[in-house]
Amino acid sequence: MPEFTTQFDAVVIGGGVIGCSIAWRLAQAGMLVAVLERGEIGREASYAAGGMLAPLAEADAADDFFELAVASRAMYASFASELKVASGIDIEYRTEGTLYLSLREEDDEELDQRWQWQHEAGLNVKRLNAECVRKLEPLANEKLRWALKFPDDHQVNNRRLIEALHAAARNAGARFFSHTEAYQILHESRAGQRQITGVAHAQGNALAPAVIVSAGCWTGQLQSNCSAPIPVSPVRGQMIALEMPATTIRHVMYSRRGYLIPRLGGYVIAGSTTENVGYDKRVTAQGMAAIINKATEIAPQLQSQAIVETWAGLRPFGPDQWPVIGADAKINGLLYATGHYRNGILLTPVTAQAISELVLTGNSSINLSPFGPGRFGLESPTE
Ligand code: GLY
Repeated sequence: MPEFTTQFDAVVIGGGVIGCSIAWRLAQAGMLVAVLERGEIGREASYAAGGMLAPLAEADAADDFFELAVASRAMYASFASELKVASGIDIEYRTEGTLYLSLREEDDEELDQRWQWQHEAGLNVKRLNAECVRKLEPLANEKLRWALKFPDDHQVNNRRLIEALHAAARNAGARFFSHTEAYQILHESRAGQRQITGVAHAQGNALAPAVIVSAGCWTGQLQSNCSAPIPVSPVRGQMIALEMPATTIRHVMYSRRGYLIPRLGGYVIAGSTTENVGYDKRVTAQGMAAIINKATEIAPQLQSQAIVETWAGLRPFGPDQWPVIGADAKINGLLYATGHYRNGILLTPVTAQAISELVLTGNSSINLSPFGPGRFGLESPTE
């Protein structure tokens, strides 16, 4: 293929939900945006995810990460409506809420603690006895002791989300280059400062005064020769979809060991594993057995359901589990939106807003100081 050099206003590295949503926002603002994706658009962590928007169900404290997650969750209803108009695709934003079941005595402590701090903080969490839960979800295990209900912890269909973001960004004018691996960030010295100039990729150069790295667990590989090597590593999560008549299970249901996500279209997703096995996306017998155990503990009748799909994805894991969202301290025009780990779908609206504001105005209305790339103490080389 001949090499080519093309000028853009912004280049986004990585075509997952984070990259596509940033491209959409920037293209909406009139910028000419390129998205470089090493494989197929949205086929990595975004595709493998569960789509749970559940900051309360998973939070142990009201820290900066929790505030960011709740802010993003609050954007989702309007985000889904706007995406429907922009793309014609319904992302199946569902508001039945999330149940967190205590199924064993040893589960009580964690649920009690979650209830305690969230109730005291005035958050929308309810304590339900077993009878109430079984009225809501008749298939929940008869052994269940009690549960927390998080009415505002919702869900979307993440595969439809990626399709919708891709279509919306294209409709707004963004250009997508799949099977185009970015391998070097280009920058030069101007008036004593480093300025981003673009990205070298497999077919040539994409030049731009703004480059956004949203490369998930491939971030560190890209960075190694030109900037601070932000260490984002892969954490495998395996999943199973089981056949299930559409309204049989309505809530997302967690236990301390796993979760079930009901989906329109006649299936329920069960997850997941958390495995440090490098860039290995195989589905394993051990992984499947573990997930089936977790799922059937929540709803024993799933044992007789057909398996309709199995898959695995690589969550992008930063050293402190928090995402990296913000500007490089030494290279003007270089920004990061990566390392979203278990929360990429949830954090998509807030990340897209924060990064697009930074690119367009130099500031963000979202407090990004806890999430900046500088927090790892890594220095960007200046030459
Ligand atoms: N967000 C769910 C998971 O990572 O398993």
